[in-house]
Amino acid sequence: MRNDDFDTLYPRRQIGAAKWQPLDRPVSPDSAGVFPFSVADMDFKTAPEISEALHEAADFAIYGYSSPLPAYYDAVCAWQQRRHGFACQSDWIVQVPNIVYALYQLVNAFSNPGDGVIVQTPVYPPFFHAVERQQRRLVLNPLVEQDLRYTIDLDDLAAKAADPGVRLMILCSPHNPVGRVWARDELEAVVRICRQHDILLISDEIHADLVFKPHRHTVLAGLSQDAADHCVICTAPSKTFNLASLATANLIFPNAELRRRYQAAESRAGIHGANYFGTVACQAAYEKGEAWYQALLAYLAGNKAMFTETMRRELPQLGITDLEGTYLGWMDMRALNLSEADRLAWLQAADLYLTAGSFFGSPGTGFERINLALPRRALEAGLERLVRAVRQLDDRGGKTNP
Ligand SMILES: Cc1ncc(COP(=O)(O)O)c(C=O)c1O
Repeated sequence: MRNDDFDTLYPRRQIGAAKWQPLDRPVSPDSAGVFPFSVADMDFKTAPEISEALHEAADFAIYGYSSPLPAYYDAVCAWQQRRHGFACQSDWIVQVPNIVYALYQLVNAFSNPGDGVIVQTPVYPPFFHAVERQQRRLVLNPLVEQDLRYTIDLDDLAAKAADPGVRLMILCSPHNPVGRVWARDELEAVVRICRQHDILLISDEIHADLVFKPHRHTVLAGLSQDAADHCVICTAPSKTFNLASLATANLIFPNAELRRRYQAAESRAGIHGANYFGTVACQAAYEKGEAWYQALLAYLAGNKAMFTETMRRELPQLGITDLEGTYLGWMDMRALNLSEADRLAWLQAADLYLTAGSFFGSPGTGFERINLALPRRALEAGLERLVRAVRQLDDRGGKTNP
């Protein structure tokens, strides 16, 4: 019987963790003190099987140039098959340092300056950056929100895709920050529209393993041969196993010609050799991490349930989306009637470090994203602070009572 520990509090400010930087005061390691709820990584130690593999690699102590062995690619394929029923082949995989880098390289490889790239807001901001910072044209297909459920506006997508200057679409699947796990028929509709207009689909599936029952992730390339021939899948062990700073991710190109074009374009980026530790960790994760991963999913489901119940019971005036996937909650703060600047100041005064929804594009304005991947005690403490802060606001203005 395993005894995976997701409850111990590990403040990470002292190791330079990005999420912890804004906290300007020390937190006692044995109190349920202030944990941040922002950047999308987890305040959990990774699987012990991965730490053991990394220790072994560190102890060998020769860190010269390396590249992944066949067993690495086999492990990525076996994970895709086991977890998502997707029959990936080793030679389809291109290892990259991270997905954001890959998004830039993909945009660069498959479009020219001035070309249009479709992105569905609100969405992870590097999707815009990879387009605009490389002089491509951002073509927005905002998601439609109704009663806090988001769907794809297929009519708008069809209209935008009809623009002959549009070459690419970047899909976030599952979606950060709205928490949707796209259903098969939604993905099929997107593929149909993109195929009709010869638009290449970049499917960022970094959150694919973090899906709550009864939802199931569908690998875009697994939909049909036609979809597989006209897409690239972006995947990584970094969200699932908390390995982001080991800088290792994988692109999957079922289409050999697209893969060749990508590699030719990327050869100009000057990356050579793999990250040795990242390669070791990725292989260990996919080969040996299953049991830990299942325990993580169960723990995250518990956090999600606690978050949902607390919000519905204590703060029904602040809506939340039903989290189908990702560990990132999405809260509607519009009932507070605060400007974004006032809301930020109010949250900081309550020691709450979230991510403002406007960060994900203008349709996110009025929302906050909350990271739920932390020890439950710290999540509870944060939610208690939120409830108190809203009550104080009500006492002052009486505006948000349901
Ligand atoms: C949709 C999405 N893609 C990519 C990333 C970042 O991936 P990487 O660290 O591999 O660049 C994130 C991180 O939050 C994300 O949410």
